[in-house]
Amino acid sequence: MFMNTASIIREATENDIAGIIELENKCFPSEHAYSGKQVKYLIKKANSCCLVEEDGEIIRGVIIILFKRGTKVAGIETLHVDPIFQKKGIARRLIQASETEAKKRCMDQMRLEVSIGNNRAIRIYEQSGYVISGLLKDYYKFNHYGSRDVYRMKKKL
Ligand SMILES: CC(C)(COP(=O)(O)OP(=O)(O)OC[C@H]1O[C@@H](n2cnc3c(N)ncnc32)[C@H](O)[C@@H]1OP(=O)(O)O)[C@@H](O)C(=O)NCCC(=O)NCCS
Repeated sequence: MFMNTASIIREATENDIAGIIELENKCFPSEHAYSGKQVKYLIKKANSCCLVEEDGEIIRGVIIILFKRGTKVAGIETLHVDPIFQKKGIARRLIQASETEAKKRCMDQMRLEVSIGNNRAIRIYEQSGYVISGLLKDYYKFNHYGSRDVYRMKKKL
């Protein structure tokens, strides 16, 4: 568990699924948000780690990282923070906590894809030590922040 003065970051359980989906829907347009089934799979079945940041009973942010057998690269699959709690450093703390989890599992690199128009997320990742390592064209099915293209970003742990 990762403590901050008034908040904790902990691994999600099945009881958090509804809260995570609600948060997804606040943060992403419907075509980008995960379905309940997908969230359940990511939490329970996938080779993954889902961390939630909560203050009291309210889930304010979520990060999901995926591990692939046979590699030491962990991928940030999704990261989102409730719009009313943004700009409080929650995303940055979730990124840090996910890196700690990845290191515990002997990963040596973090990787993610971010829409080329998502300047805020790109800046946060850069401030957290991630660097752009490539451009993937037409990565998304739908426009996201004005484009279907993404940057791949990496960080050595
Ligand atoms: C991108 C996203 C996750 C960022 O979440 P966040 O919690 O607002 O991010 P953080 O607060 O950790 O970001 C740090 C920013 O907050 C500021 N900040 C950090 N601690 C702060 C504090 N205690 N008080 C005020 N501001 C603070 C930092 O200065 C920084 O601001 P700036 O980069 O705009 O100058 C969020 O906007 C989001 O959910 N967006 C939609 C989904 C998305 O795009 N996800 C990423 C996909 S890869």
